[in-house]
Amino acid sequence: MTNKISIAIDGPAAAGKSTVAKIVAEKLSYIYIDTGAMYRALTYKAITNHCSLEDELELMKILNDTSMELLPGELGQLIYLDGQNVTNEIRSSEVTNSVSIVAKHKLVREEMVSRQQSFAKTGGVVMDGRDIGTHVLPEAEVKVFLLASVEERAVRRHNENIQKGFPSDLEKLIEEIALRDKLDSEREVAPLKKAEDAIEIDTTSLSIEQVVDEIMNLANERI
Ligand code: CDP
Ligand code: CDP
Repeated sequence: MTNKISIAIDGPAAAGKSTVAKIVAEKLSYIYIDTGAMYRALTYKAITNHCSLEDELELMKILNDTSMELLPGELGQLIYLDGQNVTNEIRSSEVTNSVSIVAKHKLVREEMVSRQQSFAKTGGVVMDGRDIGTHVLPEAEVKVFLLASVEERAVRRHNENIQKGFPSDLEKLIEEIALRDKLDSEREVAPLKKAEDAIEIDTTSLSIEQVVDEIMNLANERI
């Protein structure tokens, strides 16, 4: 009989977390949870409602009054707010450049972490984010911290934009990613940080397959 474990994948923006997490989850028939989508969805709703992103109590009201559903989709996780599919909307540059402000609030994080922990209760989960190994799943059997240089990460986002036919400015992407890294790493509550027992993988010159293989080896050792 195989043992269902939890796998935590953290790291900065565009390090490849969601791409590899999704593949690892498929290989193991585990559920995949993209926690960044939850912070993005709240940010999207707050912007749509013209709520100040500094107003923690108003953000909490929105979070508690909105139904948020995460569902598996063919191309990755889908996210619905009050029954509306907002999977594409939460990837807009407006949301991307505002989400770190929403994610710094203590009450918001407490509620998100509690929801994320309940998704992982049964085990058999691959979860990616910023604080999974440190706060959400501190007992995860496998913890990975993915890294890549800021230039490489910006190039990855740039290529994605070009593929989708979106306008893209590489220098601007470098600045935006560096700023988001700084906000996420320097916030007071659960900052982006490698857990002491996490394995660090620098993906700068690795292919997606190589990163997946490394994580699968770590997982198979624990299953
Ligand atoms: O995909 P990308 O790496 O660009 O970002 P994401 O995973 O969608 O996360 C968006 C933002 O949500 C991050 O920049 C963090 O501010 C926040 N976040 C967080 O604070 N904690 C998490 N567990 C996941 C995301
Ligand atoms: O979730 P996160 O923001 O960490 O990154 P992602 O959205 O999974 O990956 C960003 C982009 O980098 C995707 O287009 C991946 O295909 C690409 N990637 C890569 O080129 N090489 C890797 N080793 C990992 C991801």
